[in-house]
Amino acid sequence: MCGIIGYTGPKKADTVILGGLHALEYRGYDSAGIAFFEKGGALRSVKSAGKIACLENKLASEENVNTRCGIGHTRWATHGAPTDVNSHPHGNERLMLVHNGIIENSRELKLELEKQGYVFKSDTDTEAAALLIDACTRDGDRLAGILKAIKKIRGSYAFGILFADTPGEIWAARQDSPLIVGLGENENLIASDVTAILAYTRRYLALENGDVAKITRDTVTVYGADGAEVKREPQTALWDLAAAMRGGHAHFMHKEIYEEPDAVKKTLFPRIADGIPDFTPEGLSPDRIKAVRSVRIVACGTAYHAGLTGAAVLERVAGVRASAEIASEFRYRNPVIEADELVILISQSGETADTIAALRLAKAAGAFTLGIVNTVGSTVARESDAVLYTYAGPEIAVASTKAYTVQTALMTLFGVWTGLIRNTVSEDVARKYVSDLTVALPAEIKKIIAREKELKSIAADIAEKDDMFFIGRLFDATLAAEASLKLKEISYIHSEAYAAGELKHGTISLIEPGTPVVALSSEAGIREKMVGNMKEVVARGANLFVFAAGKEGTTELREMSKIAFVCPDCPETVAPIALATAMQLLAYQVSLARGCDVDQPRNLAKSVTVE
Ligand code: G6P
Repeated sequence: MCGIIGYTGPKKADTVILGGLHALEYRGYDSAGIAFFEKGGALRSVKSAGKIACLENKLASEENVNTRCGIGHTRWATHGAPTDVNSHPHGNERLMLVHNGIIENSRELKLELEKQGYVFKSDTDTEAAALLIDACTRDGDRLAGILKAIKKIRGSYAFGILFADTPGEIWAARQDSPLIVGLGENENLIASDVTAILAYTRRYLALENGDVAKITRDTVTVYGADGAEVKREPQTALWDLAAAMRGGHAHFMHKEIYEEPDAVKKTLFPRIADGIPDFTPEGLSPDRIKAVRSVRIVACGTAYHAGLTGAAVLERVAGVRASAEIASEFRYRNPVIEADELVILISQSGETADTIAALRLAKAAGAFTLGIVNTVGSTVARESDAVLYTYAGPEIAVASTKAYTVQTALMTLFGVWTGLIRNTVSEDVARKYVSDLTVALPAEIKKIIAREKELKSIAADIAEKDDMFFIGRLFDATLAAEASLKLKEISYIHSEAYAAGELKHGTISLIEPGTPVVALSSEAGIREKMVGNMKEVVARGANLFVFAAGKEGTTELREMSKIAFVCPDCPETVAPIALATAMQLLAYQVSLARGCDVDQPRNLAKSVTVE
């Protein structure tokens, strides 16, 4: 989704801003723009549809861009097509503004402003906010004017604003869209997320809802909604710039898959004491977990699939009723939430609008909320009653990979801890899980990564087709859903994920000679049933590719399939997590074979901060 960066300090602002915009590219965007003070003090903007390179080309032919203060934006179109005019910043000769979020009453505001004589140039909702702030600040009092304007605005926003008569000064405001202030030495920045400021500083303040801030190169002043000065505690990002760069890999997605073994260890080790799981230091008391009657996991996209796995582990291992739901459905269906429910929100970014809304709903109903989040200080992390961070490091590729792996690993460990507390898991079983998760899982993921060539040959077959299937049972049905999502996201091949036993109730009619079917089989206990389902598709001419773990019954799998990818030593407890890596690499290879944009697939955004 849209990205914001702003800079004030001694460096060339256009260079800093363009660097920041590149760092934000991973969020997904379709146009970009920048506003800055010219040498003589006038306020200027340059905007372009398309990639940041188009903006850079335009800027290269501009004169007088030598500037020490400016704001920049990457836009992901919601109101109005991705054109030069609709790109941010918006405003006039007195003010320039960039915006993330949606102004819900922009039509109303526009009509009011037009009556006052304002002329609109774009189709965006943002222009209404920019001109409204101009109207409210014309008497000169910036703070009072911005506060007055935001009281009239309905919707979500993170704003970065420059006023022509105060060069070097950036104003910022936020409501339901993240915005941070990067704290440097003799320079300060604003940004929609930490990756944009890492080249300059790791220290930042997270603005809260209703905050307005004034930023100069050596001061940062934050005001609350009532106009009184407020203190926001500085935080330090755990990530460094190197971590946010590609590190020699052709794509971020590839690098992020390779980081999975380490990410798993980093995420799990802090939660293990004397060989068994322990989450008590993180604000989760065994008494509370014992009292929980059911667990509901709410999330979006890939995180939702991690939630499905988490719910299955909680039921199977800890014997507690658990389910997973899509946040955008949950928030509007008047769900019955009971006070003795545990509601878990899983989110890589911690800023997904629907997940945040679900969290607030659960809190309002009196349930205990637990965020499983990758981004320190994000909204889900701040607002949940307790938070468990996943330590995957920055995930830049739009398609989520390592975040999923650590989310499922952490949910499994959490399920085992819950089982220990509720006496459904013995200490010995817990120890075996811990060793499978922290030793076998990273080792098996490494082995899968080393077999990338085999995956490439399967990918070559799939890349030529327009449709395919992923099938599996139990944990593998969830894995099939995630595998299918990954493939669709980055290769644009249509695929269906099906619980293998359900196939014959309809969708098997789509299997034709040559249709690729990936069958997942990580559990020996259900393997015979899977074999039956595989035979059904082979009988209809499918090209069967089997992904399996374990030794038992795998000979038959190999005989039936065109190519079989078997991990003989992978323990069943972690096999669906390890095989997810194979599915991610397979999707990656298919995307490459089809010449797609792996890291920034069309129409998708990394962090969906609007509903
Ligand atoms: C977007 C991304 C997905 C991600 C989902 C949830 O749709 O493209 O990769 O899984 O948002 O994001 P979150 O940050 O809440 O995990």
